[in-house]
Amino acid sequence: MLSNQTFLITGIADENSLAMKVAQEILSYNGKVVCTGLGVTPFHTNLSEKATNFLTKSYADFEEACKKNLGNDVLLFPLDVTLPENLHSFANELLTRNIKLSGFLHAIAMDKTIRQKSVKPMLEVTAEEFNDTMTVSAFSLISLSHALLQNGVLQNGSSIVSLSYIAAEKVSFFPYINMSIAKAALERLTIEMAYELGKDYGIRANCVRFSPYMGSKAGNATLKDEDVARADRLSPLGNATPEDLAHEVIHLFRKEIRITGEIRHVDGGFHIMG
Ligand SMILES: NC(=O)c1ccc[n+]([C@@H]2O[C@H](COP(=O)([O-])OP(=O)(O)OC[C@H]3O[C@@H](n4cnc5c(N)ncnc54)[C@H](O)[C@@H]3O)[C@@H](O)[C@H]2O)c1
Repeated sequence: MLSNQTFLITGIADENSLAMKVAQEILSYNGKVVCTGLGVTPFHTNLSEKATNFLTKSYADFEEACKKNLGNDVLLFPLDVTLPENLHSFANELLTRNIKLSGFLHAIAMDKTIRQKSVKPMLEVTAEEFNDTMTVSAFSLISLSHALLQNGVLQNGSSIVSLSYIAAEKVSFFPYINMSIAKAALERLTIEMAYELGKDYGIRANCVRFSPYMGSKAGNATLKDEDVARADRLSPLGNATPEDLAHEVIHLFRKEIRITGEIRHVDGGFHIMG
């Protein structure tokens, strides 16, 4: 179904990342993937020792998980979406290698106001924390798309999918405060991009709201067992799994569909509950 198509997968931290399930599903449909992971790049400057160690370890975990789960041939690149030069050099590297993308998965989020499952109230969030969360978790949808388009590697008719959460719309549970604003922005951006990129390039942009999932690093840092259990209990079909999510992303990646600007729910029906 996806033969002769290559998709960029961002946001793999380790083998439990939601993005990893999507990458595996693409390979199972005979598609190809290029993956990016957070790591040290030549564009980072003045990194502290702590930051260097964190980025080095992040990239090592990413590389190991990708080789183990996706094979040794998959192309891997370090990418920090907060660095415009990194985005452009990455996109240019794809161009140099004559890689044309049929779409990409945006699976990137970061919120420093969440620390070890405790989170700052909205009123105490600083401008820097607010802007950092927005830059990484929402604006990166624009900056990555822009870099790929400017370098001519995102083909006309491609499909962009990003990952969101019901907290974009409703007060949910404790940890999603600052992040919920970024998810709302990500979803609104999806709609604007569906219009602009649809008109200009026939590119589709959709976003998927997924159930709470503690298996990943981000989920584990954010959620408590009772949050996941509550959503599971309330959802008519129970919480969706990473495999359910991967099926939906593959569907949205298919060339044959004329779906764009959608905020989909892969959440076992949680969103219909009052
Ligand atoms: N886990 C959940 O409950 C859940 C639910 C709904 C949506 N989501 C969303 O799914 C996506 C993937 O999350 P996950 O649960 O697989 O967790 P994860 O920790 O595996 O993935 C988050 C990724 O963001 C990356 N990242 C952070 N800052 C970055 C930067 N500056 N540049 C590049 N990459 C950066 C991390 O390296 C990591 O790979 C996120 O957008 C998350 O908000 C998660």
